[in-house]
Amino acid sequence: MKNPPKIAEVKGKLGVLLVGLGAVSTTTIAGVQAVRRGLARPIGSLTQMGTVRLGKRTEGRSPRIKDFVPLTSLDDIVFGGWDIFEDNAYEASKTAGVLDEALLEQIRAELEAIKPMSAVFDRRYVKRLDGPNVKKGANKRELADELRDDIRRFKEQNNADRLVLIWCGSTEVYLTESEPHASLAAFEKALEANDPAIPSSMVYAYAALKEGIPYANAAPNLTADIPALLDLAQKTGAPVAGKDLKTGQTYMKTLVAPGLKARLLGVEGWYSTNILGNRDGEVLDDPESFKTKEESKKSVLDYILQPNLYPELYEKLCHVVRINYYPPRGDNKEGWDNIDIFGWLGYPMQLKINFLCRDSILAAPIVLDVALFLDLAKRAGMAGIQEWLSFYFKSPMHAAGLYPEHDLFIQLMKLKNTLRFMKGEDLITHLGREYYD
Ligand SMILES: NC(=O)c1ccc[n+]([C@@H]2O[C@H](COP(=O)([O-])OP(=O)(O)OC[C@H]3O[C@@H](n4cnc5c(N)ncnc54)[C@H](O)[C@@H]3O)[C@@H](O)[C@H]2O)c1
Repeated sequence: MKNPPKIAEVKGKLGVLLVGLGAVSTTTIAGVQAVRRGLARPIGSLTQMGTVRLGKRTEGRSPRIKDFVPLTSLDDIVFGGWDIFEDNAYEASKTAGVLDEALLEQIRAELEAIKPMSAVFDRRYVKRLDGPNVKKGANKRELADELRDDIRRFKEQNNADRLVLIWCGSTEVYLTESEPHASLAAFEKALEANDPAIPSSMVYAYAALKEGIPYANAAPNLTADIPALLDLAQKTGAPVAGKDLKTGQTYMKTLVAPGLKARLLGVEGWYSTNILGNRDGEVLDDPESFKTKEESKKSVLDYILQPNLYPELYEKLCHVVRINYYPPRGDNKEGWDNIDIFGWLGYPMQLKINFLCRDSILAAPIVLDVALFLDLAKRAGMAGIQEWLSFYFKSPMHAAGLYPEHDLFIQLMKLKNTLRFMKGEDLITHLGREYYD
């Protein structure tokens, strides 16, 4: 795409379909309802609070992003979703235990109206969970068809003009790309044959993309990042983003690591451990689901520090990541990082980070932004991987043969430059010679 795209106007409602009505989803849904009602502010959301500088620094043009590009208003969002449990969004919010009861009571009616559709689920991929609200198709193709029916029904019943679908379900077991993922034909055959290489999340991704609906993955498991589904996304004009929301400890890592590298400080070791007690923590207590998360968390430092370019600074880096399930903490995660660094003449130093964060409070604005930006991309005719949304993810999807960009500030520049490009504004390079010539 060389010229700015034509962006279709925003009209009618945007349906946001979330797979898994757990902590992240319900905090997103409840948050949007609360903001709509003027009960709270959308803190952490770029689409709601962020600005974008246009033109020269002397021009004083920095509109809000939502006033610069045509985004769906929060009042025009309608939520739906699937879960293996039958609890409505109010009950699920109470189980998640993230938001205060006093707030939930004020938006109770809106939350109670959101009842999960029955899920495509197989314990083979999430060993620590089981629930009653599950579809019973003869094979995965039939299950995908049932999801497509759900999607169409939701759109009609809610009078939605457009839809996006985001996997906010549990982290599935570790899978790598294999033969059934290599082409759309092989994938569709594998759906029919109930191939174990297709986890539940891929069935949802397939259903969404087949309908031409934007799809994002908030979790680290393999879903749309396979040739078969990327090909389908191109064919149906669906934008795709993922994966694994960049919150908590990895968010901190992508803040600190570029700073150390910028000043050419060496890193000998980076030990990260955290405790969390929500359902996500329980699922990640299973070694196979943890492996998926571990891979997603560990690659970040390699890409940011580039040991191939700076072997004497980063080649020997020992990077360890631990997650411990500790129920008393619920959704309030605590992370510790011990970073062994070295400076001038090799003298050692240490950096300790203790982040007492709230997982879903950090994740909810990201889910909202990704939904609104994916809808924008769809209206702008931008199909396939949306690398400009890397800003939000731990393992950003990228074209084959490229390495992912993990540095948060490069990612933010890429995101804002994409918005400028979409609106035909000059890109900002920060060269700034013109102020001195
Ligand atoms: N909270 C964060 O900061 C954060 C950051 C990065 C990634 N994530 C990922 O986001 C996902 C959601 O996190 P959470 O804290 O909401 O977890 P959660 O356990 O509270 O919610 C997940 C929900 O998904 C449901 N589910 C599982 N498999 C399903 C299926 N096949 N179909 C429908 N529903 C299904 C579960 O029943 C559960 O209600 C997890 O994979 C987590 O690793 C969260």
